[in-house]
Amino acid sequence: MTASTPKLQNADGILGIDFGTSNSAIAWATPQGTAQPIPLEGDALAMPTAVFYNAEEGSTHFGREAVTHYLEGTEGRLMRSLKTLLGSPLLMETTVINNQLVNFSDIITTYLAELRKRATQHMGTAPTRVVMGRPVHFVDDDAERDAQAESSLRQAAEAVGFKDISFQFEPIAAALDYERRLTRETTVLVADIGGGTSDFTVVRLGPALMHKTNRADDVLGTTGVHIGGTDFDQKLSLGQVMPLLGYGHFGPDSREVPNRVFFDLSTWHLINWQYQPKAMAQARALQTNYTDVRLHDRLMRVLTERYGHHLAHDVEQAKIRCSQTDGDTRIDLSYVETNLTSTLGSTGLHTHLAHLLANTVACARDCVQRAGLTNGKPDAIYLTGGSSALRTFQEALQAEFAGVPLVEGDLFGGVASGLVYSRS
Ligand SMILES: Nc1ncnc2c1ncn2[C@@H]1O[C@H](COP(=O)(O)OP(=O)(O)OP(=O)(O)O)[C@@H](O)[C@H]1O
Ligand SMILES: [Mg+2]
Repeated sequence: MTASTPKLQNADGILGIDFGTSNSAIAWATPQGTAQPIPLEGDALAMPTAVFYNAEEGSTHFGREAVTHYLEGTEGRLMRSLKTLLGSPLLMETTVINNQLVNFSDIITTYLAELRKRATQHMGTAPTRVVMGRPVHFVDDDAERDAQAESSLRQAAEAVGFKDISFQFEPIAAALDYERRLTRETTVLVADIGGGTSDFTVVRLGPALMHKTNRADDVLGTTGVHIGGTDFDQKLSLGQVMPLLGYGHFGPDSREVPNRVFFDLSTWHLINWQYQPKAMAQARALQTNYTDVRLHDRLMRVLTERYGHHLAHDVEQAKIRCSQTDGDTRIDLSYVETNLTSTLGSTGLHTHLAHLLANTVACARDCVQRAGLTNGKPDAIYLTGGSSALRTFQEALQAEFAGVPLVEGDLFGGVASGLVYSRS
């Protein structure tokens, strides 16, 4: 250990849990006094926040294993974007899974129990103290539902055996992790762009500040908005794939096909609802609204074969490929209909996401304004969260804060370590 990584005080055995919309990560304070990420699946430090209930064997699977089972066509139910349900009435809705009535809060508890189990295996003892990350807003513009979301997460943590539970804003945790790498005092705009939320914090960081017990006066501004990668996926699906199933299609009476099913089918946490008998009957009845019934056949194939998550996954992967290569990428939809494809290019990415990105950048601007910096700009912008890698987002942010260096940080693991540091 070097002088620049001081020991954590009184933090032995504390677990940090970054329960994310798309991915989760955990870290712990080791007896040697450092925060250490805990591998969750093989060597991987982040694990998809996904649960798969296998109907063939009655078994439950997590993370990549859950997604793989689903994509390979194992009979069962895939649950994703569970965090989005916190603060929503849907959280207490029940559903039958493997002959048992469960609600979505129980599924979150099941996932947290698995994280604690894997932490216990790594630490050699079951942790009882936990710092949980939370977005700046679970729910926008509704303090009551926001408080409810935190309280539901606390209850889930209690239910799996944690006794001492505290919360920290995710972007502050990300900042505390980044601070370990700084050699001089810097005022940073931390941008944590995840799957469900975009959170911003202007914070004063530096080696000399790291030892302070109370950091409240170094946090100069915090804002958050309920926009993240799953919203980008939704927009891209509506723009690229849903029209192939009838979104925006006009029927014999020159009226547009009712579009709710397309919105729900492209929204990660609503996909499962579309397979319920009532929703299926409604979708079937849409046929008379189509001029080209082939499009309706595709919609029904997606619903009857339960391809909703498959489509969402393919759109998400295309988004990532397109962002990385800045070129056209093909979405292969041959499982819906032979030879069916859609092509996503950088213009499409730009057009479909323009509105969401403008709102996200406005949230960053608001954060910097609230911080009241003397020169009006931070010294650097620290990017974290998977969606911060999106090229179009980085371009929009750079246009807003011309001349401020963008530092690409740890995309998936930094928040969990920072949560541990926040209790040191
Ligand atoms: N290279 C990439 N380019 C663009 N988006 C990406 C890239 N890699 C991952 N993503 C997106 O990042 C999102 C997941 O990011 P992350 O794991 O940080 O979110 P999270 O912590 O689960 O969500 P939140 O913090 O909002 O609860 C997904 O929407 C994913 O599609
Ligand atoms: Mg996150």
